[in-house]
Amino acid sequence: MNHLDIKPYITQEQLQKKVSEIGATLTKKFKGQEVIAICVLKGSFMFYSDLIRSIGVDITCEFFGVSSYHGTTTSSGEVKVTLDLAQPVEGKHVILVEDIVDTGLTMNYLIQSIQSRKPASLTTVALLEKPEALKVPCKLDHVGFQISNEFVVGYGLDYQGFYRNLPFIGQVQNFQ
Ligand code: IMP
Repeated sequence: MNHLDIKPYITQEQLQKKVSEIGATLTKKFKGQEVIAICVLKGSFMFYSDLIRSIGVDITCEFFGVSSYHGTTTSSGEVKVTLDLAQPVEGKHVILVEDIVDTGLTMNYLIQSIQSRKPASLTTVALLEKPEALKVPCKLDHVGFQISNEFVVGYGLDYQGFYRNLPFIGQVQNFQ
């Protein structure tokens, strides 16, 4: 494995505070209703598992696997489905949980794919957003942190499959 120089960027405390805030907002929004929370694999698994524990309504869990980077650090623009949803979402309230919106191509694809299945509502959540990198408009209802156009790892986010287990978000230094 190629070891990178990683500078702490968003601490565990900042992550947990933000997760609680988003969780509280979603709890209020869906009070008394059932929701399906979709985890976008692989990057959002850690954020997702923290977030659903901070949402106090009845939730079922679904997993949607997509890959757009194919092991590099720039989006290929082509989204490949690696695992489709196991259950229909028609008529249900859906919360879509993504790790990071970079060009927006993946989120755009996910929104279209879920909307075509006719949910009762679709709420999008992204832990991170890189507004400078956005290439296609995409509707984000809740964003944890807006960050500059740098490559970050940790808290589920990877570089060539590694660093997902860092408990904080780190910025990769001197990245080519
Ligand atoms: P987009 O389609 O360009 O918006 O890319 C979204 C996907 O690219 C995310 O779900 C991540 O898996 C990956 N990605 C984008 N930026 C980063 C980053 O800084 N670190 C790690 N993965 C990233």
